[in-house]
Amino acid sequence: MTLKTQNIGYWYTNNPDDYLFKDVNLAFDKGKVYAILGQSGSGKTTFLSLLAGLDVPKSGQIFLEDQDINLSGLTAYRKNAVSTIFQAYNLLTYMTARQNVSTALEITGKTADQTEIENLFDLVGIDKSLIDKPVLQLSGGQQQRVAIVRALATEHNIIIADEPTGNLDEETTQDIVRIFKDIAHKQNKTVIIVTHETAVAEQADIIFELKKKQFSQLK
Ligand SMILES: Nc1ncnc2c1ncn2[C@@H]1O[C@H](COP(=O)(O)OP(=O)(O)OP(=O)(O)O)[C@@H](O)[C@H]1O
Ligand SMILES: [Mg+2]
Repeated sequence: MTLKTQNIGYWYTNNPDDYLFKDVNLAFDKGKVYAILGQSGSGKTTFLSLLAGLDVPKSGQIFLEDQDINLSGLTAYRKNAVSTIFQAYNLLTYMTARQNVSTALEITGKTADQTEIENLFDLVGIDKSLIDKPVLQLSGGQQQRVAIVRALATEHNIIIADEPTGNLDEETTQDIVRIFKDIAHKQNKTVIIVTHETAVAEQADIIFELKKKQFSQLK
């Protein structure tokens, strides 16, 4: 299962000369962690939003296997193929950790198996005592883990994360990176992480850098 961009470009104005990036051809295979590095404002989040099916490239196409995701339908793509972890976690703060996960599953039309959900919390190191607390009472690192559980619970093959270790201390950052590596290597998923931290990027299998409006492969 490969996610592939074909000559994609994006600009926010009506003028294609204002492009953030163009003619981008990248491939993302399952079983690997990819890091996307780039300075603030270079267009990383914009690029991720295209991979996540939240927006459409101004030029070019994105293919999952041989299917143009825009032609086969972005709603279906988001519902069945891709899970996104946003920088701000986007958890429902008035709900508990468990409810955040269950609700996400219900939205994708799946039944929430509570034992499986508890196993996932265990996998990311969230103690049982925290599962039924409102997420507002959890720390930033714990909320990030809840967001990861929510992404994993849907069992989608592609996990996309925008600065998942942005506000975390070094040890928690290493924990989270380890979780993402396990997800890719043991569950054979495609993990794509945007980061400005070189130490995080270095742990990925493949590193792409967006610099001067161009992507290049650093590793
Ligand atoms: N909705 C929008 N309308 C117009 N311009 C936008 C919009 N969203 C982002 N931009 C601009 O596009 C550029 C790229 O933004 P983007 O959020 O993709 O950068 P980024 O690489 O994720 O930055 P950061 O590391 O700070 O998160 C920035 O100059 C930003 O101001
Ligand atoms: Mg960003």
